[in-house]
Amino acid sequence: MDLEKFFQHQNNKKQVKILTCGSVDDGKSTLLGRLLYDSQNVFVDQMDQVKIESEKYGTQGKDIDLALLIDGLQAEREQGITIDVAYRFFETSKCKFIVADTPGHEQYTRNMATGASNSDVAIILIDAQKGVLEQTKRHSFIVNLLGIQHVVVAINKMDLVNYDENIFHKIVTEYTELIKNFHFISTNYIPLSALKGDNVFSTFENTKWYTGPSLIETLENIQIEEEDLDNSFSMPVQWVNRSSSDFRGYAGTISSGKISKGDVITTPSSNSQTSIKNIYGPNGELDEAFTNQAVTLTLQDELDISRGDIILTQDNKKILKADQFAAHLVWMDQDSMLPERNYIFRFNNNFINGQITDLVHSININSYEEIATKKLNLNDIAYCKIALNKMHSIAPYKNNHQLGSFVIIDPYNNKTIGAGMIDHALRRSTNISWHEMSINKNTRSKLNGQQPCVIWFTGLSGSGKSTIANILEQKLHTMNKRTYLLDGDNVRHGLNKDLGFTDTDRVENIRRVAEVSKLMLDAGLITLVSFISPFRSERKMARDLLEEGEFFEVFVSTSLEECEKRDPKGLYKKARSGELKNFTGIDSTYEIPENADLVLDTKTNNAEELADQIINFLESKKII
Ligand code: ADX
Repeated sequence: MDLEKFFQHQNNKKQVKILTCGSVDDGKSTLLGRLLYDSQNVFVDQMDQVKIESEKYGTQGKDIDLALLIDGLQAEREQGITIDVAYRFFETSKCKFIVADTPGHEQYTRNMATGASNSDVAIILIDAQKGVLEQTKRHSFIVNLLGIQHVVVAINKMDLVNYDENIFHKIVTEYTELIKNFHFISTNYIPLSALKGDNVFSTFENTKWYTGPSLIETLENIQIEEEDLDNSFSMPVQWVNRSSSDFRGYAGTISSGKISKGDVITTPSSNSQTSIKNIYGPNGELDEAFTNQAVTLTLQDELDISRGDIILTQDNKKILKADQFAAHLVWMDQDSMLPERNYIFRFNNNFINGQITDLVHSININSYEEIATKKLNLNDIAYCKIALNKMHSIAPYKNNHQLGSFVIIDPYNNKTIGAGMIDHALRRSTNISWHEMSINKNTRSKLNGQQPCVIWFTGLSGSGKSTIANILEQKLHTMNKRTYLLDGDNVRHGLNKDLGFTDTDRVENIRRVAEVSKLMLDAGLITLVSFISPFRSERKMARDLLEEGEFFEVFVSTSLEECEKRDPKGLYKKARSGELKNFTGIDSTYEIPENADLVLDTKTNNAEELADQIINFLESKKII
């Protein structure tokens, strides 16, 4: 029986979507193995690795050893680094269950945040021998952020603590205190042994002191209520189906509300409207469809709609176009999140560049206190403000899970490095507009009689950046060119005097000077920028602010040994003695440019010759 049949089969059975959360050895695989093994029908999901397992165990699950099944899940999990979430399906006489199975390692917090926003219930596993761990607290916090309303706390491995009632109650008390400010509608605690099956499908006599239902009974009896989501219709378009010349259908999963044939719809960027002609589900035509249903819509008249657009009804006021918003964030990367750094924000099918502009607070995961912070490390959870480089249609996560959530992607390696849930759009984003001025870069450049550009020097402290830039500026000046030199040491005396040398401050230092260099360019000047600018990411950001052919990266390539030998300001000596912290090249990173427009070798040429090399370069680029 395949997946589609599973859904069609006994469609009237209640469907419960479960998220399982636990640390590595809490027994998550064992519990899942037990649920699959003891239930009526087992189906395993779409993913390749899992398919193999499905062939191996499939519906004959009963014939195989529970240990084998658990080993299978464990092995798959170990290879499963690329798996975000695997889905398992099983059923009892009353319910169909879909389990979002997420690996338990610390760094896999990502899987919870990216794959589980539509679960009805979270099973939080706690090892009775270990009690509530940091990971339990982190998972519970995220489950609450995700808006999951029901929690079952499975206190596992009771057999290893002699089914001790006191241990169970101690954990219940601690956990109850932990979640006192959360929004869970129900929290159930069950003592169990996943390995032995105690209290999983039926209650067990060694825990006579426990009078509640078994895990499965608890899951079957959970009252799943419709969430208080936005009830006006919205659907992001996943793809446009043009299967024949006269057919154009918009496929996607409904993110909020209900749609019926004949309903009038529009898109946020369109001024016109039309109505729904047909609605197609997986099994044919429908008269209406609801949140979370995957459908294809056809329209009476064609609107200009493409992949990533959002189809909505006109009464939908909850979806706003904004480029700034506040959001909760889970950081999932080894490299820290630095405010103002450029990242890609993925909303459904839209990839938009942007920055986390303000870290409002992060969460101390042990006390749930809000704490001030300057950067985020792996698994940190925070509340922050985000600015996108263009307007996008968003909704608060609490109204619309699909349009209200996003993941963050590293532009260098396309890894998912964070996930977020939108709280609200920021007003300033809708109230500030860009003014087109009559006098602009072109008119100013014309009057100056030159082609403006930014020449960006990067290199270690003492590499010779400022010396070369200074000579270059003199040369340009004698050629009647209008110039300006922005130098790290000097700008740090004024505009950037509030900044130090932590990674976070350096990112902000470069962001500001990149913006200033853009203004200087707009003023029609040949702008020289001489900053260590140690990070590739910010140098790219500076380049991306400008147009093709306006930005030239000049790497002043002097080795650390050489800079240290010269030590013009005596700073290397101080850094080596520990008197000066976070010094570039010593205890702070310098990322060597990979694609500099010009590399200057200070070993074989003096500063005068190197300045001439730049002049030649600018001539070849027709700047001068
Ligand atoms: S950047 O890394 O943020 O681009 P910037 O170019 O503005 O640095 O400033 C570098 C200058 O600050 C150096 O040339 C040096 O004179 C001074 N300085 C003081 N402390 C440090 C430090 N910890 N690391 C690097 N430079 C420092």
